[in-house]
Amino acid sequence: MPDNADIDAVVLVGGQGTRLRPLTLSAPKPMLPTAGLPFLTHLLARIAAAGIGHVVLGTSFKSEVFADYFGTGADLGLEIEYVTEAEPLGTGGGIRNVLSKLRSDTVMVFNGDVLCATDLGAVLETHVAKEADVTLHLVQVDDPRAYGCVPTDLDGRVTAFLEKAPDPPTDQINAGCYVFNRKIIEEIPAGRVVSVEREVFPALLTAGARVFGHVDASYWRDMGTPEDFVRGSADLVRGIAPSPALPGQRGESLVYSGAGVAPGALLIGGTVIGRGAEVGAGARLDGAVLFEGARVEAGAKIERSIIGQGTRIGPRALIRDAVIGDGADIGARCELLRGARIWPGVKIDDGGIRFSTDV
Ligand code: GDD
Ligand code: MG
Repeated sequence: MPDNADIDAVVLVGGQGTRLRPLTLSAPKPMLPTAGLPFLTHLLARIAAAGIGHVVLGTSFKSEVFADYFGTGADLGLEIEYVTEAEPLGTGGGIRNVLSKLRSDTVMVFNGDVLCATDLGAVLETHVAKEADVTLHLVQVDDPRAYGCVPTDLDGRVTAFLEKAPDPPTDQINAGCYVFNRKIIEEIPAGRVVSVEREVFPALLTAGARVFGHVDASYWRDMGTPEDFVRGSADLVRGIAPSPALPGQRGESLVYSGAGVAPGALLIGGTVIGRGAEVGAGARLDGAVLFEGARVEAGAKIERSIIGQGTRIGPRALIRDAVIGDGADIGARCELLRGARIWPGVKIDDGGIRFSTDV
């Protein structure tokens, strides 16, 4: 059994985060504040808590932001190194591209946008017990079509890998955490785009490699869409999703330093109020994610929505299941409902967008 301290972790953070636009126009998805901290902090803290010490971040889109924030990783008790793809190489290409930084024979690879509670040591134990070439953490979800569907046989051996299949044969999916034997990474073609899901895993199965699943029922969520991001952030605030980076005691809301909440404002449903943000009297925030310096004025209602940095939400506005970009200015009584995405800096006049007919 390898000691976790001798295992390298690789985190893939080079995606464009398209489904979280416009927030990802200014910050890469893994850096978006989630329960008040860049999402990646929660994942890195879990890796550190598992005893892994050396982490390589595979970056591409907005690569500099990661090193600027995490530096050497010392604050998290980690040694973090960075490898940047000038052009995105895909998930498999991204893993291959960090090979020169790897020191161990067993490597844990993580998608950088998954909020999860699985016991990483147990995934490693499965890898060793099965004498696997690759072990995939697998979970069951209600709708597997948005993920990689991964059926296994009675011994836990992976029998197929079907990425984003329209008609998946099982609800068991790739949870975005793998254990690789180093020699498998060495065999990934270098210097070109490679998808680990569409190319590497299917080729390994065809070649008869030992690919196993580690299935569990721990908390799991991909944070890639606004709905999931809001839910994941709220679950972190309420303690439903664990994070070693947050205080142990958690409640219905989390208010960061320098934020102002007027008396009579109601904060529920895992609402987070970022640094320097302001909430006016009588506002009702249910599952709201307020980034730094956002301002929600008196009597406004925010439900399951993300409010970007420095954005203003005017008095009595209603924001429900929406994403409001950085620095937008939403006038009084505006109504922005399901699926609305307001681009950064956009200004909407008082009463300028409504779903109801009263004035
Ligand atoms: N370095 C690098 N280079 N990283 C990349 C690249 C790239 O070209 N493309 C994507 N990534 C990173 C993203 O930043 C993200 O952290 C991770 O790889 C996965 O990419 P997503 O775009 O979030 O993929 P997905 O959510 O549609 O599907 C993946 O995750 C699911 C579980 O959450 C797949 O691995 C599915 O099989 C899996 O079920
Ligand atoms: Mg994803």
